[in-house]
Amino acid sequence: MMSTSAPLLHLASAVLLLLLSSSSATDHIVGANKGWNPGLNYTLWANNHTFYVGDLISFRYQKTQYNVFQVNQTGYDNCTTEGATGNWSSGKDFILLDTAKRYYFICGNGGCFSGMKVSVLVHALPPPPKSSMADHTSAAAPPPRVLGVLFAALLSVCFGLG
Ligand SMILES: *[C@@H]1O[C@H](CO)[C@@H](O)[C@H](O)[C@H]1NC(C)=O
Ligand SMILES: *[C@@H]1O[C@H](CO)[C@@H](O)[C@H](O)[C@H]1NC(C)=O
Ligand SMILES: *[C@@H]1O[C@H](CO)[C@@H](O)[C@H](O)[C@H]1NC(C)=O
Ligand SMILES: *[C@@H]1O[C@H](CO)[C@@H](O)[C@H](O)[C@H]1NC(C)=O
Ligand SMILES: *[C@@H]1O[C@H](CO)[C@@H](O)[C@H](O)[C@H]1NC(C)=O
Repeated sequence: MMSTSAPLLHLASAVLLLLLSSSSATDHIVGANKGWNPGLNYTLWANNHTFYVGDLISFRYQKTQYNVFQVNQTGYDNCTTEGATGNWSSGKDFILLDTAKRYYFICGNGGCFSGMKVSVLVHALPPPPKSSMADHTSAAAPPPRVLGVLFAALLSVCFGLG
């Protein structure tokens, strides 16, 4: 009895953790499938998203060509990296939006002048469940439904083995 229920509990808590962690934050992929590249209007992209504290913003780009700098409004307006508070260059950068404020990101090697700049306003309140379902930006995160199916499948495997 105890030998079969203990692993099941471990599995259940692991899946529960997965559910909690995946449903609490959204990864906002800058430019969606177009990524971080010149010639796009990231104001339009940002206007299409709602950002909350704890969300991630992620930049996908050719690391040999571009990068990401976190700057202030002056840096954003003038495409300058002076006084930047962060920089990334992996080509696939995930940045935690941990404060309710306006963030500014630009490309630091010229791309900013071709539109590679984005400003996002991060809100303090977590999204209510209703609006997060209606929010198109959450499409990047796995829907809880899928994880529920996974959970059910794992449980049935477990019971099947026991
Ligand atoms: C991007 O779109 C915004 C909102 O429509 C507009 O105000 C802005 O001028 C555009 N920027 C560029 C560089 O076209
Ligand atoms: C805004 O979101 C809609 C719905 O997901 C999408 O069709 C559209 O392309 C998005 N627009 C921009 C500028 O990202
Ligand atoms: C930013 O550019 C504007 C004009 O484009 C200029 O007036 C201003 O002095 C610049 N600011 C800095 C900090 O360079
Ligand atoms: C942004 O940072 C630069 C360099 O540290 C500074 O000169 C400028 O005043 C700052 N601008 C704002 C709006 O804080
Ligand atoms: C990038 O950030 C690192 C610290 O993470 C800093 O040492 C470096 O000077 C920054 N580079 C530029 C060009 O600002």
